[in-house]
Amino acid sequence: MARRVAVVTGSNKGIGLGVVRGLCKQFDGDVYLTARDEKRGTDAVAELQREGLSPKFHLLDISDHASIERLRDFLKQQYGGLDVLVNNAGIAYKNSSTASAAEQAENTMAVNFFANLNVCKTMFDILKPHARVVNVSSVAGLLQRLSNPEMKKKIASNEYNIPQLEQIAKQYVEDVKAGVHAEKGYPKSHYSMTKLLLTALSRVQARELQNRNQDIVLNACCPGYVSTDMSSHGGTKTIDEGADTLIYLALLPPNVNSPIGEFVENRKISDWTA
Ligand SMILES: NC(=O)c1ccc[n+]([C@@H]2O[C@H](COP(=O)([O-])OP(=O)(O)OC[C@H]3O[C@@H](n4cnc5c(N)ncnc54)[C@H](OP(=O)(O)O)[C@@H]3O)[C@@H](O)[C@H]2O)c1
Repeated sequence: MARRVAVVTGSNKGIGLGVVRGLCKQFDGDVYLTARDEKRGTDAVAELQREGLSPKFHLLDISDHASIERLRDFLKQQYGGLDVLVNNAGIAYKNSSTASAAEQAENTMAVNFFANLNVCKTMFDILKPHARVVNVSSVAGLLQRLSNPEMKKKIASNEYNIPQLEQIAKQYVEDVKAGVHAEKGYPKSHYSMTKLLLTALSRVQARELQNRNQDIVLNACCPGYVSTDMSSHGGTKTIDEGADTLIYLALLPPNVNSPIGEFVENRKISDWTA
């Protein structure tokens, strides 16, 4: 039987690095630290090697379709597929950023929603039975942040599909560019809107994966407020504490009944739509 394999996106630093560290200790198989920059990635691998751990490295820029395909083909060839995928890579502009609202909205949506979706679309083809997928979202994207009643009702109903969510994401960027986003009842921050759509997406993806009847389980989660570059080190959790729920979801045992398609915080299911 092929060796088991886990991949963590954006794991050269921050919470992703904590996830790789934890998986190296607990996962029965190879763990891939991936990064869009080779030096940052191999430096991070060396850091974990100094701790006595043995992560492997592969380049992965989630914004580059060819890069995702290269990793998929490598995994298929070397391992016959993929057992664990942690979609951790993400970006957030600082409050001090001078980039225009349009640029911030477009780039944040491109990475946090569309690039993660593209990783899923590409990697889901090679998921093995009993695979576990973790989408790293945030409480910043709780549905209550949306005050547009029509959109809120539709998303809460859980009756949408992926093309509809893609359309909402595109429309959001267009509305920001047109300067009409405030009146449309979107969340106040672009980051919140991207994470809201990522959590909504996770529910649809989990349903679709369940339909394969191969015990493939996907959940979304929030790592908590973690001390990383993204939080300007204001977070209260260490990266290992922030990684805990992600690792728990990545290692859910075979044939688990719950959580499936949930939003999980501190290892507990949280009502994302409340
Ligand atoms: N920190 C928190 O309090 C907090 C709270 C809730 C949710 N989250 C979520 O947790 C995840 C990790 O956040 P973090 O705090 O650890 O952030 P971070 O320290 O800024 O790390 C983000 C990671 O994502 C990578 N990345 C960004 N764009 C990428 C791309 N196109 N392709 C590949 N990798 C890419 C970065 O790579 P480079 O080093 O090359 O830039 C970096 O490795 C994010 O999804 C974030 O939204 C964080």
